[in-house]
Amino acid sequence: MLGLRRYKRTQIDIWQGDITKFAVDAIVNAADASLIGGGGVDGDIHAAGGPEILEQCRRIGKCEPGFCVTTSAGRLPARHIIHAVGPLWQGGSSHETATLRLCYENIFKTAAQLDVRHISIPAISTGAYKFPATAAAEIAMTATRAYLDAEQSAALKRITFVAFDGDSYRTLQEQLFERFPDEIDEFDL
Ligand code: APR
Repeated sequence: MLGLRRYKRTQIDIWQGDITKFAVDAIVNAADASLIGGGGVDGDIHAAGGPEILEQCRRIGKCEPGFCVTTSAGRLPARHIIHAVGPLWQGGSSHETATLRLCYENIFKTAAQLDVRHISIPAISTGAYKFPATAAAEIAMTATRAYLDAEQSAALKRITFVAFDGDSYRTLQEQLFERFPDEIDEFDL
């Protein structure tokens, strides 16, 4: 079963896999503030995309948590990479929720500036940064809904959340269905 909703002419869906393989207008990287690459999805993107991405990151310098910067996608099939810096989970009392929400707001803002029609987004902060997966998925879907509610006619026609494993997929799907309960449109694969 594919987790999918349509809302105001934008499709929101969930796929399980490696985001570096997604041939979309923009993929999002879960970067860190120094933009020098690391493990997880960040490591995979730099390894598969080649040194051109890191060179551009070095020229940009750094990026505060909650914000994002853009580079080309090097050898990846996507066109742009939006490097978003999520919060490191520190127990929940260090504005982590607000910072993750700001991160998604800035991703959508940046995507609009780039005229992105299809974006793929990983589960930011839920790996090395230890943000609880359910809370993170709820923020992702709430921010998506708020963005689409605020737009008269969003350029974004498709938002794909990419889960690396089955647990993450199920968590994202639950929160998608929770936040977009009325616009039911499911396909059997
Ligand atoms: N495609 C899609 N999702 C992936 C991939 C991939 N190739 N690799 C990992 N993931 C998933 C993880 O399973 C997790 O659910 O992305 C989510 C985010 O995990 P991390 O990549 O660890 O990112 P984050 O928690 O935001 O931590 C960021 O990790 O490697 C460093 O430089 C990075 O310091 C930064 C920190």
